[in-house]
Amino acid sequence: MNQQPTALAENGYDAWLRYHSLEPGERRDELNRFGGILVEGTDEPAALTAAHELSRGVSAMLGREVAVVSERRRTEDAPCFVLGLLGRSPIIDGVFPEGESGLSLGREGYALRHEPDSGRIAIGAGSAAGLLYGAFDVLRRIGTGHSLQGLNVAERPVNELRMLNQWDNIDGSIERGYAGSSIFYENNRFTQNLERIRDYARLLASTGINAISINNVNVHQIETKLITETFLPDVAKVAEIFRMYGVKLFLSINYAAPLEIGGLSTADPLAPEVATWWRERAVEIYRAIPDFGGFLVKADSENRPGPFTYGRDHADGANMLAEALEPYGGLVIWRCFVYNCKQDWRDRKTDRARAAYDHFVPLDGRFKANVILQVKNGPIDFQVREPVSPLLGAMPSTNQMIEFQVTQEYTGQQHHVCYLVPQWKEVLDFDTHLKGEGSTVKRIVDGTLHGSRYSGFAAVSNIGSDVNWTGHLLAQANLYGYGRLAWNPELSAEAIADEWIRLVFGRDDRVIQVIRGILKDSWSIYESYTAPLGIGFMVNPNHHYGPNVDGYEYSMWGTYHFADCHGIGVDRTKVTGTGYTSQYAEPNQSRYESLETCPDELLLFFHHVPYTHVLQSGKTVIQHIYDTHFEGVERAEQLVERWAGLSSMIAEPLHRQVAERLVEQAEHAKEWRDQINTYFYRKSGIPDQQGRRIY
Ligand code: GCU
Repeated sequence: MNQQPTALAENGYDAWLRYHSLEPGERRDELNRFGGILVEGTDEPAALTAAHELSRGVSAMLGREVAVVSERRRTEDAPCFVLGLLGRSPIIDGVFPEGESGLSLGREGYALRHEPDSGRIAIGAGSAAGLLYGAFDVLRRIGTGHSLQGLNVAERPVNELRMLNQWDNIDGSIERGYAGSSIFYENNRFTQNLERIRDYARLLASTGINAISINNVNVHQIETKLITETFLPDVAKVAEIFRMYGVKLFLSINYAAPLEIGGLSTADPLAPEVATWWRERAVEIYRAIPDFGGFLVKADSENRPGPFTYGRDHADGANMLAEALEPYGGLVIWRCFVYNCKQDWRDRKTDRARAAYDHFVPLDGRFKANVILQVKNGPIDFQVREPVSPLLGAMPSTNQMIEFQVTQEYTGQQHHVCYLVPQWKEVLDFDTHLKGEGSTVKRIVDGTLHGSRYSGFAAVSNIGSDVNWTGHLLAQANLYGYGRLAWNPELSAEAIADEWIRLVFGRDDRVIQVIRGILKDSWSIYESYTAPLGIGFMVNPNHHYGPNVDGYEYSMWGTYHFADCHGIGVDRTKVTGTGYTSQYAEPNQSRYESLETCPDELLLFFHHVPYTHVLQSGKTVIQHIYDTHFEGVERAEQLVERWAGLSSMIAEPLHRQVAERLVEQAEHAKEWRDQINTYFYRKSGIPDQQGRRIY
């Protein structure tokens, strides 16, 4: 199939809502019969959005308008798409006689059914949001080349909260943003470009995202006022856009707000005037935004204020806010990224990896029902390789959600390709054994393991003002994949990649195969030329881009590798180390504790070993470092060639964008290789068995 669409649209802006036109024989005839789109039993905004999105997508793929029609105008002979709420429309109830409970769709699920007699495709749901997800599902099926004939499925999201966290600042910058500036703010004000926000909402809803916090967790001076009359009208406008797409809006708050903007002399959570101040804010917020989601809170973390200042703990701190939001059904999402960021590097006892567990586990059962603890996937900070955070699931009487990082802070900053879905899958599939075998992270996160009231996914977004949203076009697959995985963690990384490629690049088999291969290999390639064997960091301080083996070695951040002339790694064992391994249930605890059974890829996270230590792979640590770094660069160079092979099959502007980044990656990988290899050669004095060039 030859698809060289017009250059105008080929800048990546449409992302996976590109809606390539269908070729004859490609389901085009099947779809051509449809006369229109009908909405039944609701005029809720999100239901109308669903119908319009369906119309937009189908029309684009057919090259003629398939409009949203009223009952009156509906032609009897042409089949139509019909969207409607179950129990509120005779047509829909006729197609789905088993009803909502029979289909068990939950709050956001939907059912799709092809009715052979009328030729209709019906989308039935219990809510407008369900219709929206159903409409995007239909479009995804068509866009990935599937037939709608005989369609009969019911879907519901596995996770209740499927959230993105924007780390956007009101000056327009984005903390850890690698794709331009904020689409929400500029020059200390909200943007006037609401169209771009609407387009973002479309992208999110199409993957199933249903919540967003729109400002950085580090809440600076002006952003502290987002919860006041100064900014609430603007916040409400943005909330309205997201509401049309079934996405609830949250704000990050500054714990010291009562002091900084409230004229109080304290922010002590147990001081009555502080609680009153927050209750008053809640009244104002909900007056402006009746379905406001709640607060995201980074407190007592990396110099941010919090309850510790007043001798209170995190439960005191979170519960006071939770009480203020409770009457409106609001949530407090309290982050667990709490550790001593002023550590002395000479102190070998303090272990940052232990911190979140040590701080929070003793508080289990003390949090109010509308508090959720947000726990990063690993104990350190979104490294290319970390063990799963032992805090996940370790508080059976507390709501928890997981936090991933879609923005590639430590995984190439969207200049390197690194498809992260396989990494997230590994985390979700990890068996904590907290309640025996099968106590996987995904069951903690979906709430079933402990019967949690609230749970789900959060992740730091990777988008900005760049035309293609994510800087590196292939980084779009991470945003898409995050949403899809939050909807259903059982989807495979390959299947998700496959969908994204088809929707963005069209349905040419060779294109699909090559890009799928690049995405599949990318995480392992990135890992191979950066910090080895789970040790992490080794990046330049502050911006975290590029190699610097000792960049954090003598600093206060608690991220050390302890390399000397004999060996490397952090001893986190119970017997001789920091005792971090004891935070895991058996058999994970013993597996990590023992040098014999600790997986190679995490060896240096858990153990300090000599360079001559033999890995399970049969190689020594030092030879592993050399080999992976040489191979990693070769594999990065091959990515350039693999992509080059697609030049005649992908629209030139899109092809060029990626080609340029892959060349840059291959060059930068050499810098990583040479710094890491040279560093360890100089430390250890052990030459490479293959005599390759080390400086
Ligand atoms: C990392 C990141 C910070 C961020 C922090 C957090 O440390 O580098 O920019 O603020 O995580 O998650 O709060």
